[in-house]
Amino acid sequence: MKNLLVTGGAGFIGSNYVRLVLDAHDDVSVVNLDALTYAGNLENLAGLEEHARYRFVRADIVDQAAMESALEGVDVDQIVHFAAESHVDRSIEDPTAFIRTNVIGTQHVIDFGRRRGIDRMVHVSTDEVYGQLGPDDPAFTEETPIQPNSPYSASKASSDLLVRAAFHTHGFPAVITRCSNNYGPYQFPEKLIPLMVTNAMEDQPLPVYGDGRNVRDWIWVGDHCRAVDAVRERGEPGRAYNIGGRSERTNLEVVKAILAALDKPESLITYVKDRPGHDLRYAIDDTVISSELDFTPSMQFEEGIERTVAWYRDHETWWRSVKSGGYLGYYERMYGDRLGQS
Ligand code: NAD
Ligand code: TYD
Repeated sequence: MKNLLVTGGAGFIGSNYVRLVLDAHDDVSVVNLDALTYAGNLENLAGLEEHARYRFVRADIVDQAAMESALEGVDVDQIVHFAAESHVDRSIEDPTAFIRTNVIGTQHVIDFGRRRGIDRMVHVSTDEVYGQLGPDDPAFTEETPIQPNSPYSASKASSDLLVRAAFHTHGFPAVITRCSNNYGPYQFPEKLIPLMVTNAMEDQPLPVYGDGRNVRDWIWVGDHCRAVDAVRERGEPGRAYNIGGRSERTNLEVVKAILAALDKPESLITYVKDRPGHDLRYAIDDTVISSELDFTPSMQFEEGIERTVAWYRDHETWWRSVKSGGYLGYYERMYGDRLGQS
């Protein structure tokens, strides 16, 4: 049995990854460590509470003592590190929270892994560390210089450098993944796609920043999770792997696809003041992961949007409680007897 520590497993991508790993590997057990910030939601893992190979512990990676005590007596062979502050707009409002979790917290996860002598850490990073591209620039490769532009991407780039330093200095067996924009089930409705889907379902305005011509590469969250798992199993320590969805779209194209899937009018689109420093374009060259680890994304964007819209339509209680903040009591209801671990 491999004992896998997943950090940030109550968030969007982490919760999808926990489900994927438990389904795909009978010989992997998962401990999900999460602080349950506003973005962490145990309802994302509903149904796993009694799973024999799954367990949840609550701790903040910034608090080393709390992390150690939450994991006392728990075997850990590998770590997949998702825990982070992840929303660019929030990083513009409050960069300090990003430095705490993404930089200091990542160093603590590395230090914890070194103390336990783990055989693999996957550090889940982002294509945003490479900065922005012009409309006709070639896509980011793993050799593209690190030139982050937002407090979020600067904090993620800092964490990548700490992971690199731990490999170089101590031979710490860490691998970095840099993925493009994810979408799919359980995404917190402050990010573009779930915000637009849920607003449109309520006939609320869809706030498009600037002229809506910024370009992102969109990847289905399940594809990202498969790629992370391939890197966990077969990636080479000390390296970084780009992951993309092969689906570059302007924000306006994304929003129009959502409105079409919901049969809602384009008059809901409302242009609002642009995000300061808004990166124009991200795009991924995935030659390395496709040729070396045999990973290619499987979901077509049009089908992924249909499925995402269907998921939010079928999970109205989930997103309404998230939007209203009601999910915050879930941990106390489900795990009240285990409180005190953080
Ligand atoms: P998310 O915001 O949905 O989830 C983050 C999770 O981390 C939450 O469960 C939160 O409670 C937990 N967390 C935050 N601070 C913590 C702390 N101090 N201690 C312990 N847990 C803490 O994020 P996401 O979109 O699922 O992203 C997961 C990872 O993937 C992040 O590292 C992010 O940078 C990276 N990433 C995200 C995308 C994307 O499109 N969402 C793309 C590429 C990379
Ligand atoms: P976001 O989901 O915040 O991801 P990121 O900024 O990390 O790529 O935003 C995706 C794109 O959508 C980005 O260009 C900003 C834009 N956007 C809007 O136009 N309106 C919105 O309300 C949000 C949240 C984002």
